[in-house]
Amino acid sequence: MSTKITIAIDGYSACGKSTLAKALAKALDYSFIDSGAMYRGASLFFHRLGYVSEKHIDREAIENAIKDLKLCFKIDNAKNCLYLHNENIEDEIRQAHVANIVSKVATIKAVRVALVKQQQRMGQNGGIVMDGRDIGSIVFPNAQLKLFVTASPEIRAQRRFAELQEKGIPQSLEEVRSNLTKRDHVDSTREESPLIQVKDAIVLDNSTLTKKEQLEWVLEKAKTIIRSNH
Ligand code: CDP
Repeated sequence: MSTKITIAIDGYSACGKSTLAKALAKALDYSFIDSGAMYRGASLFFHRLGYVSEKHIDREAIENAIKDLKLCFKIDNAKNCLYLHNENIEDEIRQAHVANIVSKVATIKAVRVALVKQQQRMGQNGGIVMDGRDIGSIVFPNAQLKLFVTASPEIRAQRRFAELQEKGIPQSLEEVRSNLTKRDHVDSTREESPLIQVKDAIVLDNSTLTKKEQLEWVLEKAKTIIRSNH
C-alpha cells in the first residue's frame, strides 16, 4: 500500500504557500504543483487572445476558448516551469499584466472546472503537495494534511515586493500592496469555490517564522500522518 499522502495548502495571496509547498515536496520527495501558476497561465492565454484586460473581460469568448488551453509543468534548468503550448511562460505569468487580471479570470466556472480536472489528474496517485485557494475544499477534499497559511498583509506585500525585485520584475511596493488587497477580496468573495478556511485545515501564521522554521513545523505534522498511515 502506498504511504504517500496528499497535502493541500491554501491561503491568501503572497503568504508563502508556494515556497512552503516546494520545500515540503522536496523534503518528502513528492511532486509539487503551484495551482496559482495555472490560473496565471490561463489568464495570459486569454489576454493574448484579447479576451481579457484590466478594463474588460469577455466571459463567453473565454468559455469557448478554454478547450484550446494546454498547460503543463516541465523542468527547465532544474526549475519547475509552466508551459503554455510549447512556450515557457514562468517569468511572464509573474508580471503585473497577468497579476492584475488573474483573479477576474479565476471567477469563471468553466476555467475552474478545466483546471481542477487537470489538477486532480496530476494528484491521483498521492505523493503531491499542491498550493492554491481551493485545494483543501474542492481539488483534494480528502487530502490527509490541509494547511491554511496566513501572514499579515504588510508582511505579505513586503515579501512579494522583494521576490519580484529579485526576479527583476518592476513593480512598486504600492502596486504590489494594491494588487494583493484586490485579489484577496475577489478570491474570498467570488461565487465559484471562494478561498475559505476548511474545518479540517491546520492554520499556520508564518508572519514571524523563517522559511526553515515553517518547514520544520509542517514536516513534523506531515511525518506523523505518514507514519500513522503506514
Ligand atoms: O502567489 P500568489 O499567492 O500571489 O497567487 P497565486 O497562487 O499565483 O494565484 C494567483 C491567483 O489565481 C489568485 O489570486 C486566485 O485568483 C487564482 N487562484 C485560484 O483561484 N485558485 C487556485 N487554486 C489558485 C489560484
